[in-house]
Amino acid sequence: MEIKKLIPDPEIRNWTGPFDDKNYYFNLGKEQSEKIIQWLSIKPDQKILDIGCGCGRIAIHFLDYLSGQGQFIGIDSNKELLSYCVDNISKVNNNFQFKLIDAYNGVYSQDGKLKCKDIIFPIEDESVDIVIMWSVFTHMYLADIDSYLKEVHRVLKKGGFFIASLNLYNKFISNQIKMGKSYLDIKYRVNEDSYSLDKEVPENGFAHNEEIVKEFYWRNGFIIREIKYGVWYSKELVGEFHDCIIAQR
Ligand SMILES: C[S@@+](CC[C@H](N)C(=O)[O-])C[C@H]1O[C@@H](n2cnc3c(N)ncnc32)[C@H](O)[C@@H]1O
Repeated sequence: MEIKKLIPDPEIRNWTGPFDDKNYYFNLGKEQSEKIIQWLSIKPDQKILDIGCGCGRIAIHFLDYLSGQGQFIGIDSNKELLSYCVDNISKVNNNFQFKLIDAYNGVYSQDGKLKCKDIIFPIEDESVDIVIMWSVFTHMYLADIDSYLKEVHRVLKKGGFFIASLNLYNKFISNQIKMGKSYLDIKYRVNEDSYSLDKEVPENGFAHNEEIVKEFYWRNGFIIREIKYGVWYSKELVGEFHDCIIAQR
């Protein structure tokens, strides 16, 4: 199938990043999906869960990769983005399923009725091989990340991998930001362990204390296998933008 037909209109895709350029949207998604497949050694017959799947920017690149035995489930709290996936991606392959969750987010789902701490993913225990959360923790409060980690741990099979991209805050980053050297100006203190680039709506872009994030992973039963540091705190944008934690259950 011609995957490029699944590039949404700008008013949809721009919710998930600066994607006026549809080729940039497509190529970045392709590059990141290929990295995810390689880093986690994903097999074509595995079951993937993409939490905060948006309009399927990552999902579409799994269409030609997964076999008939493979499965891709996307969940998101934004109705418009999720509807795009249901109406377009599930239509071409019904092994790709998308489910709305009623979580509140100050940017993406202001009509969401549930707090993240009360969200139960519509997924059975220990049923997925791989969990992806790409640029979602960047828009979630630290306490909510803790709750989601518990849910990710519940649905992931033992030995399964979990990849999440986010912005990690530490002493070096703090100095970069103070000296005006960071691309993302995440300078507003939200609480003891979190900063945001937006004073009014912190969900527009968080950086969270690296040590606390790691502690949350460990506390929730994950082994952190690798942290790939991004370049968001620099003005030399070479390589992956956000930091990336690869963990195993
Ligand atoms: C920056 S976009 C990234 C979308 C997609 N992962 C990608 O890389 O293109 C952030 C996504 O997270 C979703 N989101 C925000 N808070 C969420 C929550 N609490 N639960 C599930 N999805 C959430 C938003 O609706 C949005 O689709």
